[in-house]
Amino acid sequence: MAQEKKKYLVTAALPYANGPVHIGHLAGCYLPADVYVRYLKAIGKEVIFICGSDEHGVPITIKAKKEGITPQQVVDKYNGIMKNAFEQFGIDFSYYGRTSSAVHHETAQAFFKNLYDKGVFEEEVTKQYFDVEANQFLADRYITGTCPRCGNTGAYGDQCEKCGTALSPTDLINPKSALSGAVPVLKETKNWFLPMGKIQASEEFSSYIKRFDGWKSNIKGQCNSWLTEGLQSRAMTRDLDWGVPVPVEGAEGKVLYVWFDAPIGYISATKEYFQQNGNTDSMENWWMNEETSLVHFIGKDNIVFHAIIFPMMLMTHGNFILPENVPANEFLNLEGDKISTSRNWAVWLHEYLVDFPKREDELRYVLTSIAPETKDSEFTWKDYQTRVNSELVSIFGNFVNRVLVLCEKYFEGKAPFGAANLPEGNLTEARNLCFNQVAQSINDMEACLEQIKLRDGQSLFMNIARAGNKYLADTEPWKLYKTNPDLVQTILFDALQICAKLAIAAQPFLPHTALKLSQLLGANNLDWQQLKKDIIIEGGTQLGKPEILYKPVDDEDIQKQLLRLSEIKKENTSQPAKSELQEVKANITYEDFDKLDLRVGKVIEAEKVPKADKLLKLIVDLGFEKRTILSGIAEYYQPEELVGKLVTVVANLAPRKIRGIESQGMLLMAGNDFGKLFSVGPEKDIEPGSIVK
Ligand code: 2FM
Ligand code: ZN
Repeated sequence: MAQEKKKYLVTAALPYANGPVHIGHLAGCYLPADVYVRYLKAIGKEVIFICGSDEHGVPITIKAKKEGITPQQVVDKYNGIMKNAFEQFGIDFSYYGRTSSAVHHETAQAFFKNLYDKGVFEEEVTKQYFDVEANQFLADRYITGTCPRCGNTGAYGDQCEKCGTALSPTDLINPKSALSGAVPVLKETKNWFLPMGKIQASEEFSSYIKRFDGWKSNIKGQCNSWLTEGLQSRAMTRDLDWGVPVPVEGAEGKVLYVWFDAPIGYISATKEYFQQNGNTDSMENWWMNEETSLVHFIGKDNIVFHAIIFPMMLMTHGNFILPENVPANEFLNLEGDKISTSRNWAVWLHEYLVDFPKREDELRYVLTSIAPETKDSEFTWKDYQTRVNSELVSIFGNFVNRVLVLCEKYFEGKAPFGAANLPEGNLTEARNLCFNQVAQSINDMEACLEQIKLRDGQSLFMNIARAGNKYLADTEPWKLYKTNPDLVQTILFDALQICAKLAIAAQPFLPHTALKLSQLLGANNLDWQQLKKDIIIEGGTQLGKPEILYKPVDDEDIQKQLLRLSEIKKENTSQPAKSELQEVKANITYEDFDKLDLRVGKVIEAEKVPKADKLLKLIVDLGFEKRTILSGIAEYYQPEELVGKLVTVVANLAPRKIRGIESQGMLLMAGNDFGKLFSVGPEKDIEPGSIVK
C-alpha cells in the first residue's frame, strides 16, 4: 500500500484529556501509528502525523465532577501530561492539537453548518432521557445500562465498548443515570440527526465500503455486521453545556456530539500545523487531494466512528478524501486483568519514564512484540523482563557489542577493510547463510511494514541480529586472529555491515537505539535505501567507543512494579471503586420506597439466552404466579447453580422486552466493579411470595 501514494496523512485517535496515557493506549494505537509513520518517512514518503487531545464529551465532565474541578481545568491538566509523555517517549507527532482550540471550534462549526445548509440533517423532536435530580439530559456516558446486543451490563448511552455497537441511550436495557444512579425519565427535545440509513444506501457509500476488503478482518467483520443490520439515524447534537456550541438558530444550549467534533479535530489540527509552519502548505492540499492516503490508527472501540460515521460526514460534506485504511488494534490487558483508569490498573507512561529512565525503546520493543493486532493480548512485568533480557540484551545488544569490542581490540576502533581474504569451506557456507538470512529478513520485514503487520515486522528485524550472532558463533573470529588476521578483517567487516543494517531497520521500531547505534558506527546519515547495499560502513571508518545498547532489567525493578500492582489490587478489593455509581444516591421518602413490591421468589428453571453472553432466562415462582425474568448474570452463575435458590424479586417492575423475550421483574443482586456479584435472598427458608420489607 505504501508504495502507491506519495503523501500520507496518518492520524492516531485523539485521546480524551481525562487521564494520563497508559500502555494500553500505546499498544492500541499510538505506538503502531508511530512505527508506521517512521517507516513511511524512512522510505521517503511525505507524511504528516496528526493527533491531539479530545477535550469535549461526557468523559471530561464526569472527570471534572469526580475531581471537583471545572472541565477546562481537567483538560488543561491532562493535555499537558499526555503531550509531554508522548513527546518524551518518542511518539513523533507532526502536530498535537486540542479540540478546545478556537480553530477547532470554528472548523467543527463550519463543517456542521455545511451539512445543515445542504439539508443533510433530519431535525427531530424526540424523547431523550433526563435526570430530574440533576436537572439535565443524559447523553452518551451520562447513562449506562445493558447492551441490547451482547448483554454487557456496563454499556454506555452511545456505545457498548464490549461489542463495539454504536447505541442510543434509549436502546439500553435498565438505563441508569451515571450522575445520580436514578432511573431517568424521558423528556422531549430537538436534535439534528445524521441519516445514516439513507447515506448507507447511497452509491458513494457503496463504493467506499469496497475498501473494507483490504482491511484487517476485525474491522471488516464489525463493519459488515452493522451494515447488514442496517444503520439508524444518529443525533449529532446534544443537550449538554460542555462542547462546541451548535451554530444554528434554535439550538441554544446545545453542543455538537463529541463524536461529530472529535474526528474533525484531525482536520483542524492539520490547519493549525500549517498555520504554525508559516502556511507553506495547507490543510486542503492534504485533506482534499486524491494523492493523499488517509490512515486512521485507532483502538477497536473506535471502529464504527472512523470506518463508518466520519467517512459519512466527509462524503456528505464533499471535497474531502476518505480513509484508505483504518488499522484498529484490539485491547491490551495487564497481569490478567482489564486495564482500567478508574481502578488505577495500568502502567502509566509518565511513571514508566521515571522508573525506567532512558529505556523508551525497551517498552516500545515489548509493546510491539505483544501488540494486540488480531486479538486481545497481555502485558506482564515478567514477560517484559524476559523479552528485554533474552531478546534485546542477549541477541541485538550482544551482537553489536561483540562486533564493536572486537573491532576495538583488533583494529584500534576502526572499521577493518573487508574481503581482504574471503573465507573458505565451512566459513563460506556460514557467510552465505548469514547474508541470505539477512536479505530475506529485510525483504520480509518490509513486506510486513507495508501491510502494517508490525509485530511480525519487528520479529523479522530481530532475525537480522540473530543471523549476525550466528555468523560470529560459526566463524569464531576471536579464535582466528592469531593465525588468520585477514580473515578476521573480513568477518568483522561483514558484521559491521549487519550492524549498519540493524541501525537502519531499527528506525521505525527502536528510534532511540537506531540513533545511538548509527553514532557508534560513525555513520550519521544512514538511509533506508542502504538496507539493500552490500557496503554501508567503509573500511577505515572511525567507530565509537563500545557501549552497551541495553541494560538487563533486574529482578528488583520488576518486583517494585509487581508490588505496586499488588497494592492496587488489595486496595481495589478491600474498598469499592470511587466511581460515580458507588456514591450514595440522594435520599428518597418512605413513600418512594413503599412503591416497590419486593418478594421472595424461588428459581425453578434457568437457562442461557442464545447469543447473549451475559443473560440468563429464569422462571421464578412467586407463590401466587410464575414469572419469566431475564437477568444479566450469566458470567457469574451457571444456570444449574440457581435452580432451587431463593431470591429477591422486584415484582412490580414494568415488564420489558429483552431480545424478544418479556422480562417480568428483576432479581436483586449485590455486586461491585471487580467481578463479584451475588444474588440477594432470605437468610432462611421462607415460602415464595413472602414480602420483603
Ligand atoms: O476513545 C477515545 O479516546 C476518543 N477520544 C477517540 C476520539 S478519536 C477522534 F475521533 F478524534
Ligand atoms: Zn454490547
